Amino acid sequence: MKKLTLLILLTLIINGLSGGLAARNPSWQEVAPGVWKSVIGIPDKLDLFNSADIKPYIDGLKKMKSGKFPLPEDQISAEVTEGKTFLRFPLVKNEEIFGFGLNFKTVQQRGKILQLHVDHYGGSDNGRTHAPVPFYVSDQGYGVFINSSRYLTVYAGTAVRKESKEAPLPLDRNTDKNWNSQPYSDAVEILVPTTGVEIYVFEGPTTLDAVRRYNLYSGGGCLPPRWGLGFTQRVPALFTAAEVEQEARSFREKGFPLDFIGLEPGWQSKSYPCTIEWDKTRFPDPAGFVRTMKESKIRLNLWTNPYLSTESPAFERILKYTGSHTVWGGVVPDLTIPQAQNIFLNQLDSNQVNIGISGYKIDECDGYDNWLWPDVAQFPSGNSAEQIRQTYGLLLQKMTTDLFRRKNSRTYGLIRASNGGGSSFPYVIYNDYYSHQDFITALINSGFAGVLWTPEVRSSNTGEEWLRRIQTVCFSPMAMINAWSSGTKPWSFPEVEKEVKEYTLLRMQLIPYLYTEFARYHFEGTPPFRGMNLENGFDAGAKTELRNDNLNENPYAEAILNEIKDQYMTGEYLLVAPMFTGQTSRNIVLPKGRWYDFYTGKYAGDGEVINVTPGLGKIPVFVKDGGIIPMMPARLQAPAKGEKFDLEIRYYGSKPGSYKLYDDDGETFDYEKGSFSWREISVLSNKKGNPSVTLSKAEKGKPDNIGNVTWKFMTAE
Ligand code: GAL
Repeated sequence: MKKLTLLILLTLIINGLSGGLAARNPSWQEVAPGVWKSVIGIPDKLDLFNSADIKPYIDGLKKMKSGKFPLPEDQISAEVTEGKTFLRFPLVKNEEIFGFGLNFKTVQQRGKILQLHVDHYGGSDNGRTHAPVPFYVSDQGYGVFINSSRYLTVYAGTAVRKESKEAPLPLDRNTDKNWNSQPYSDAVEILVPTTGVEIYVFEGPTTLDAVRRYNLYSGGGCLPPRWGLGFTQRVPALFTAAEVEQEARSFREKGFPLDFIGLEPGWQSKSYPCTIEWDKTRFPDPAGFVRTMKESKIRLNLWTNPYLSTESPAFERILKYTGSHTVWGGVVPDLTIPQAQNIFLNQLDSNQVNIGISGYKIDECDGYDNWLWPDVAQFPSGNSAEQIRQTYGLLLQKMTTDLFRRKNSRTYGLIRASNGGGSSFPYVIYNDYYSHQDFITALINSGFAGVLWTPEVRSSNTGEEWLRRIQTVCFSPMAMINAWSSGTKPWSFPEVEKEVKEYTLLRMQLIPYLYTEFARYHFEGTPPFRGMNLENGFDAGAKTELRNDNLNENPYAEAILNEIKDQYMTGEYLLVAPMFTGQTSRNIVLPKGRWYDFYTGKYAGDGEVINVTPGLGKIPVFVKDGGIIPMMPARLQAPAKGEKFDLEIRYYGSKPGSYKLYDDDGETFDYEKGSFSWREISVLSNKKGNPSVTLSKAEKGKPDNIGNVTWKFMTAE
């Protein structure tokens, strides 16, 4: 047996060196229910899954039915030639594919050529983005992941092979009007610029199921602490401790919610490159400051980038574990080396995490080529600059999450780079780009990529824009104003102050629902924010039926078949359709099934495109029939650990409704050891005065934070 393995290995090496491993159909091994893996050639040691140190959540995967490999195996091929790996996966006619990371302008990816490359988003969907996750899903109900830490070139249905079964007929451009510069292609082809790679296929049957399996295999989605879902304000870069305390006071006095404040570069004695230690003039007594803030129930999040100044206390110790090049004169820790990780983490722990800092905003780990380390840089681990670039965000998230885990205290922070396998990290991606529309498309795409994204609010030209942006950020993973340079406050536009307050408080009311939806992300892999293409009615079968309709007479069919990039789902029941500056009305696609207005409970439509004119004060939100939304009274901070809170359970429509409400202590990792409860909510009739409603009790010995419960039947039918 050993001899055989050796022989295979030798053949692989010889083939790899001489530049040839003929095209073959990979052989697949089912490594978890509905998850298949194949190893092609000789993969790099450093890949995405091992950088993220994923721990597949097998119990979650076992709960999903699994059956058979979802693609025709004989149509997948892999070849290693001249030190490069070529992969090919089939596509059928009309198949749509989604994913390939955090894109900002487009949802469907068929027909694209992308180079997946961690980078600051530069304004076009060319593969360079904050999270260029090499994962795609198909409306045929499967997903594919390429576990590589290289820059991958993806031809997502653009290239045609001679032997293609569906090869388009050559047409004469001189005479034939049907000639097309981009003829039909029946495959996704991927170039991995190294001698091998691990590839994974995730079964459906639905597109959402494939996403769920990917998230579960990556360890399950992250579960933020409850306070992370409250409101957060980032203060101007040079604010002092006294100014930060004053900021918190003014939120309280004006009745605006606030759970955590973000400090920007000025908390550090020097930045760009960073010392990652407190500035003694602006923050003379860090521990006292953190304590005072905590007493007023406000947590603190610290900005940093990872490039260390010669003046950082960690500099001397980390120097030998840094790369050949500097960034703004700072050294670049090789975070694939455990010693470098430890020195870096020590710097965060001492005088920061150990005095009660709740999390970090880790900036600039995505790069702009003009200031980041170049691809010719060398790192002491021997990993290439390219590989370090592709994995840096994952490594930073992994090590900092573990630091907080060791203290049994959850964190929720911000990061500007991530990659495949990062679903379980409690970090939200943000950037400096500022198109409100594109921010929503990114929110949709985050749901295909196992990452979280915030359409952060910074500044606005008008009160209208301010309110429109606030409305959407309140329906996102992190409700945040980033005033690092603008100094804006929620009340900066007095003409919309009342409405802004209403929405920030609505965000707080929604925490029981949002928290449950994050628990589903963790335990079931379902992204809490996701595009319509992950909903029922968007699968290939449903679309084929719609294609047979006369599109001109059916705006619904047309809408479903085109891409929908300006409305999305928040959790199981809420459909959110943001309004943008200048718009007074908009179209909304309501999938099949009855939908109801979130605010009034009134029937809104069923399987149709509706047009709404909601007024400036409202962001359109709709609820599925039978929808149950557990809310709590408006408050300024999320419930603390062990604090009981009352529930108002809203019910919409007329279908019998059920919902599983999640509960745990909201702050620690004890849920990983079973300290949580799911409570069944059910509603059998919407008749006022004759309701049949139940909320099951928490299991004995399990967390129970629910106080008084009131029921609200929103739909009077
Ligand atoms: C940027 C970051 C901003 C802000 C700023 C501070 O890189 O995207 O949100 O933190 O740095 O200098």
